[in-house]
This record gives sequence, C-alpha cells and structure tokens, in this order.
Amino acid sequence: MASVATPSEPDTPGRGKSSNPREELFTETLKEVYFAEKQNLRALPKMAKEAATPEMKEAFQTHRDETEGQIDRLEQIFEHMGRPARGKTCEAILGVIDEAKAFIDDFKGTGALDPALVASAQTVEHYEITRYGTLETWAKELGLDEAAKLLDQTLQEEIETDQLLTKLATQSVNRKAA
Ligand SMILES: [Fe+2]
Repeated sequence: MASVATPSEPDTPGRGKSSNPREELFTETLKEVYFAEKQNLRALPKMAKEAATPEMKEAFQTHRDETEGQIDRLEQIFEHMGRPARGKTCEAILGVIDEAKAFIDDFKGTGALDPALVASAQTVEHYEITRYGTLETWAKELGLDEAAKLLDQTLQEEIETDQLLTKLATQSVNRKAA
C-alpha cells in the first residue's frame, strides 16, 4: 500500500521578513532600543542644562557620552546580523521624555526640579535595564555571542547609572535633612 504523503513543510512566519521568528523578535526589539537611545542622546543635554546641582549636571553629561557608545554597540550588532541600523518608534520612551519636559516646565527654579529629573532618568534606566537584559538572554539563545557580550557591556553601564542616580537622590534628601 502506498504511503500517504504527510505535510512536511514547517510553519513559516507570516510576515516574510526572516525565516526565524525568534531572530525577528530580537531584531525588532533591538530597533526599539536603538530608537530609545537616540531619543536619550537628544534629551540628556537638555536635562544636564536644566539640572540645578553640579553633580546632577555631570551625571547627565557623563551618561550622554556613554549613550553615544551604547548606540555604537547597537550599530555593531546590526552590522554583525547583516541588517541596516534602523530605529522603530518606542512609545514608552517618548512618554517618559514628555514627562521630563513637563517636569522642567512645572518645576523649573524650584527645589523639586532635580528630584523630578532623577525620577525621569531612573524610569529610562529601568526601561533600558529590562530591555538589555532580555536582549542579552535572547542573543545567547540565538547563538549571537558577540551581540550578547556587547549588550551586557551596555547593561552594566545602565545599572551603574541607575545606582549613581539613587546615590544622588539620597544625598539630596540627606542635605535637606541636615
Ligand atoms: Fe542607554
């Protein structure tokens, strides 16, 4: 008896961009974080300019310079993957940056401005920490070892920045209490 042919075609992704949907998910998320970093690069000088204390100005300026390096790492990853470095709108980061702008308008010239800017900056850092952590895990699963290494370097910088911001916020509280 002749054997009945069974469908042997694997599931193909519907969007036709990549044969590997996990790689597609990784790339799309990479594009979002690339967009977010470019937005940060524009927002951080403004935050440095508006911050009241020299420590805060320096923290924002330093992180602005680090952000350039982080963008460069993302571009290296796109290149490794043979993909153009392109951003994809990330509404989450736009919302946080809008909030920071509103804080500047509402609290400029008051003692509440720096705490407000720290809060916005930490919201950005926590977003980035979760995204870079996820991307690093996915890169390892996909066997993209070089990408995982680059993502981890940025992740460590974001964690350090977050810790510095916590320290600055605490110092400011202590100064007020003294
Ligand atoms: Fe960043």
